[in-house]
Amino acid sequence: MKKNLISINDFSKEEILHILDVAQEFEAAREQDFLRGKVVACLFFEPSTRTRLSFEAAVNRLGARVIGFPDDRNTSVTKGETLEDTIRIISNYVDMIVMRHPMGGAASLAAEYASVPVVNAGDGAKEHPTQTLLDLYAIRKTQGSLDGLKVNMVGDLKYSRTTHSLLQALSLFDTRMVFTAPEELRTPKEYLEILDAKGIPYEETSSLEDHLQDCDILYMTRVQQERFPSVEQYRALKDSYILSAGMLKGVKPGMKILHPLPRVNEISTDVDSTPHAYYFQQAGGGMYVRMAVIAYLLGYR
Ligand code: CP
Repeated sequence: MKKNLISINDFSKEEILHILDVAQEFEAAREQDFLRGKVVACLFFEPSTRTRLSFEAAVNRLGARVIGFPDDRNTSVTKGETLEDTIRIISNYVDMIVMRHPMGGAASLAAEYASVPVVNAGDGAKEHPTQTLLDLYAIRKTQGSLDGLKVNMVGDLKYSRTTHSLLQALSLFDTRMVFTAPEELRTPKEYLEILDAKGIPYEETSSLEDHLQDCDILYMTRVQQERFPSVEQYRALKDSYILSAGMLKGVKPGMKILHPLPRVNEISTDVDSTPHAYYFQQAGGGMYVRMAVIAYLLGYR
């Protein structure tokens, strides 16, 4: 039976650790060709730089070939073709579909109609499981473990699909979570209920100062203009947290700042040269993690 990656919950803790281990192997030897002859479709109905290009690079580095589109403006979606029919057709051409879509639940719908594995590259404000895998890769690499850490997620926790996936993955480990957000952008109840049901403790605050000094990972996020109902509401919240180098005095020496990127203004550029900035290296690991995901879902590792 085909295996999809729609939610981070589609992978067990053991599978997540396996992906991280294989990604580490691929980082040590990044040219592989055991997927020669395979074709992967990268279908992006919403803008992307990192996810699309790192998936495409991953496919190429595994010896497979890639087809797809970076937006749907030149596809038959513009003539009214449904996502279901689009996926049914593309399934005939390829061995795997990687898809980003602005609608939450689109990846799950695609998986229903696809005859090949589907990987969710971000569906609306819902989930972004491969981002979470690369986040975990960065956390383990910098902290040496995924256990015994305090992870402070900051910013737009309402619309950030990356934190929705990350909090579920971290619940598998001995991690303390803090959610720092303005009242209007708090983590949706449905995700907090997942933690509550599992008895995972967490703290919510609107003050960035509260857990800046004692966290091991500061996970900054962008306020997502594209998901707001109005520009006025976005403008009122867009500057909620702006991290600058001066604010890092007294933080743990090994504390690392992560961000799924792109950033807008929530991390000042003066932070980039501090030993705490790790967001660019974090994104770099994404290619190896995506190589591992593709290889695993196609049954090669
Ligand atoms: N982190 C992330 O998903 O970046 P892109 O939107 O550039 O793919």
